[in-house]
Amino acid sequence: MKMNLFFASVFLLTAMINVHGNAAANNNLILIETSNTVLVYRIDQEDVNLYYFGETLKQYDDFKLVEQNSHLGNIVSTYRGLAFNESSLRVTHHDGVLSTELEYVEHTVESIDPNTRQTTVVLKDNIYDFYVDVVFRAYHQQDVISISTRYRNSEPSAVHLYHFASSYLPVFSGRYFLTLFHGEWFGEMNMRETELVEGIRIIDSKQGVKTSDKFSPSFLVSLSHKAKENSGEVIGGTLAWSGNWRHSFEIDHRRKLHIVSGINPFGSDFRLESGNSFTTPEMLISYSSKGKGQISRNFHAWAREYGLLAGNEERPLIINNWEDTFFSFDEEMIKEIISDGADLGIELFVLDDGWFGTEYPRDNDSQGLGDWVVNREKLPGGIESLIEKAHSEGIKFGLWVEPEMVNKDSELFKKHPEWAIQEPGRRMYEQRNQYVLDLSNPEVQDFIVNTVSGILEEHPEIYYIKWDANSHFSNVGSPYLAANNQSYLGIAHTHGLYTVLERVRAKHPDIIMQVCASGGGRIDYGSLKYFHEFWSSDNTDAYQRIFIQWGTSHFFPAIAMGAHVSDVPNGITRRSFPIKFRFDVAMSGRLGMELQPSHMTEEELDFSKNALKYYKRIRPVVQFGDLYRLISPYEHNVASLMYVSDSKSKAVLFVYHHKWIYGDVYPDIKLQGLDPDARYLIREINKVGDFYIEDGQGPFSGEFLMKNGIKINTPFSRSDAHLTVSLMGEYDSVILEIEKVQ
Ligand code: DGJ
Repeated sequence: MKMNLFFASVFLLTAMINVHGNAAANNNLILIETSNTVLVYRIDQEDVNLYYFGETLKQYDDFKLVEQNSHLGNIVSTYRGLAFNESSLRVTHHDGVLSTELEYVEHTVESIDPNTRQTTVVLKDNIYDFYVDVVFRAYHQQDVISISTRYRNSEPSAVHLYHFASSYLPVFSGRYFLTLFHGEWFGEMNMRETELVEGIRIIDSKQGVKTSDKFSPSFLVSLSHKAKENSGEVIGGTLAWSGNWRHSFEIDHRRKLHIVSGINPFGSDFRLESGNSFTTPEMLISYSSKGKGQISRNFHAWAREYGLLAGNEERPLIINNWEDTFFSFDEEMIKEIISDGADLGIELFVLDDGWFGTEYPRDNDSQGLGDWVVNREKLPGGIESLIEKAHSEGIKFGLWVEPEMVNKDSELFKKHPEWAIQEPGRRMYEQRNQYVLDLSNPEVQDFIVNTVSGILEEHPEIYYIKWDANSHFSNVGSPYLAANNQSYLGIAHTHGLYTVLERVRAKHPDIIMQVCASGGGRIDYGSLKYFHEFWSSDNTDAYQRIFIQWGTSHFFPAIAMGAHVSDVPNGITRRSFPIKFRFDVAMSGRLGMELQPSHMTEEELDFSKNALKYYKRIRPVVQFGDLYRLISPYEHNVASLMYVSDSKSKAVLFVYHHKWIYGDVYPDIKLQGLDPDARYLIREINKVGDFYIEDGQGPFSGEFLMKNGIKINTPFSRSDAHLTVSLMGEYDSVILEIEKVQ
């Protein structure tokens, strides 16, 4: 019923777009339109130029005014005479000519589904039979537009591609503030906002595998001033590609911004044979005139519908053994975690690294990778006995694999040294004692598909796979690719990965899969097409997680964000937190645990049991709701966010006191996204002690909660306000369930 209404309303809106579309066609306009935004291109003789990207215009006549602006730039920025900006296309034609001058040929519009319209603009070089198709998909309800480009060579012989971006977006506002997401293993998705100045700012990845390890392929550009959550013009972009990528932000002498996004052209030039075409990955963009909060909600809604697998299905509560046992476990220890987890209310156990290898047992990270045979010394009953145990406890079973990699000390490497990425005669470098398999090689692809399928066919009861990848490219060069095609490795490898994932998914369509790359090293919408979720970070220190999850939430939804409660003190930061704080932080994502419950105290166990019960209750709101970031941990020593259900009848508020400093000033927590006219009851969950708010307070009007908000009580600033939460000490936290009174 909900779906029918959704499609009915989409149909009406689509019909409206058609009105604009038809009128536009008469006027040489090409409109890429979603419910709130539009890209306006105009066919100017042979050129196609962008005139506007922003909030949509309801009156068609207004488009005629827009097109009287001077244009922002061409639909594709090619290398040619008088073009001095960074090119999105640089191709050397078959006869050695360096420049490309594109002319409009035609454009077509088709409906992919009732919510998605695809517009393809076809261009051709004015001399050569070299074609460029720019393909836009406008996701109406979600206000997300994807742009990909197909380069087609119909010249008599091969051309050479040097720059082959997915998209070129010229923007004008005079001042631009770029937010990027940077970090590394154990510290992913830190946010940094800087003003762009004249010149070119590049963020990229050259790591081959771990796409989001140093920088995420995602960015925000705020126009005129720093990005705010709820106001101001912001453009969000993220590249759906699981290999090397690059975004360049160039401010020219007239302070126009040129954004070129796509596969990293660094070291990746390649021959495109006559008769062949090359299609780039999709660049996803979204525009908001109401701040970056709306950009996040747009991407989340898009992801749940199109960007990840089964975005409308609740994710199970997981317990994983990794941070408790690392490689040192035996069958008994694992079975104990399974039954203790099940007692707490966990729904799925995941056996992590270390379960395989016979000749080279995987007892540490230096050996065994590639030898996917169970180590019966560690697990005499094999995987089957663990599955049985899980089932007897009423929970499901999941397994860790890392099939794209190999240790030097492994049977696989001894048998197939030529399957690893390497160059003849050069020293082979390792990362985490391992090599990356050359996925451009179809034999390697077959091996990976057969390995994963073999495991799943032998154990059809496996419900979940954690698919890890712990090394970036530590060498360059493919023993498989021809000598004159070596620089194609990065692209061929990523295509090989997608082929593998497609084949695995086709054979096992129901398997739930998590993508992981040494924590959050592969969080991109290229891979998420094949996965249900990602492991956000190996850093489960609750304080740091607030920041990691905060950054990640800008582009990726909570339903996909693996967030586990682990033991204290944290193995690396040596920091300890109360169990409540750890749960309260993890419960704002896809909750799980990564410890041995028998190491917990009775109180911690009781708390965990209740927390898991509560999470099951709030799960639909967290996993399907709209996210509102209320107080940033980057600006205050308290952070707050909330999720609101579609109907606005339920919400969950999270508040974290992550740092205690004398004299600190605490902002009021002004809720968002509620129905101002509705009345809500408030109930605290995960309660410890009795100094937080009373049960079932209210009802309060949505308007009161959003305008007056909730006051924060601290030891030095007590509030007598009617509605307060108390954050007395460092690492205090609060979760409030907010429910509309019927
Ligand atoms: C890196 C992952 O992020 C961890 O969770 C764990 O699976 C290890 N790899 C296992 O080697």
